[in-house]
Amino acid sequence: MSKALVIIGAGGHGKVAADIALKIGYENIVFFDNNDSIKECVGFPVLGKSEMTEKYKLWDFFVAIGNAVRRKEIFEMLEEKECRIVSLIHPNAVISRRVKIGKGTAVMAGAVINTDAVIGDGCIINTASSVDHDCVIGDFAHIAVGAHLAGAVHVGQKTWIGAGATVSNNIRICGECMVGAGAVVVKNIDEKGTYIGVPSVKTK
Ligand SMILES: CC(C)(COP(=O)(O)OP(=O)(O)OC[C@H]1O[C@@H](n2cnc3c(N)ncnc32)[C@H](O)[C@@H]1OP(=O)(O)O)[C@@H](O)C(=O)NCCC(=O)NCCS
Repeated sequence: MSKALVIIGAGGHGKVAADIALKIGYENIVFFDNNDSIKECVGFPVLGKSEMTEKYKLWDFFVAIGNAVRRKEIFEMLEEKECRIVSLIHPNAVISRRVKIGKGTAVMAGAVINTDAVIGDGCIINTASSVDHDCVIGDFAHIAVGAHLAGAVHVGQKTWIGAGATVSNNIRICGECMVGAGAVVVKNIDEKGTYIGVPSVKTK
């Protein structure tokens, strides 16, 4: 069978995922989306609700949903159905040979992941972001476009590091945090919530 991929989520993230999939050799792509009014996405069919995946069991799967809670739910539903969840890594990402990347993770164009970093399942390492040496990125975390993590940063599960944010070396950020766009994190974050500014402070 030719390389075939089901992408769940026909929004912006799904579009970029399809682009990577084509670049790495997928020939057939279909989307599923809960929004029945979307019929087509970047030239590929959108087939309906994400639960309707039974007949595509032999295809690869990728969950392209920005919301980490929802992304995790769908990911777990696919795992229960024993679907094969794949990671999509853009050929123009720069990834050290010693990096570990879980399944269902997207690494977008221009991202740099340096030596001995560990990236979990269902993560998004977005366009032109960087994750430096020895970082540990928890499952379903999102390092947004242009965000930079210095060496040995730990990011907890489902945390979102906003666009252009910077995290200083050796910092630990717990799970379920939102670090706002452009924030600079220079102290550990131990309490879930929203953090913005330079240096970052908790707002919610
Ligand atoms: C931090 C964030 C989550 C706050 O969102 P929100 O709760 O809806 O907040 P609001 O937009 O209502 O803004 C509340 C206040 O915080 C300020 N603010 C919002 N985001 C800010 C940021 N990143 N840095 C500094 N100030 C910010 C707003 O200007 C506003 O100030 P005001 O009350 O003086 O007018 C959001 O602004 C953000 O930065 N999201 C990241 C988006 C991103 O990175 N996308 C990338 C996709 S790849």
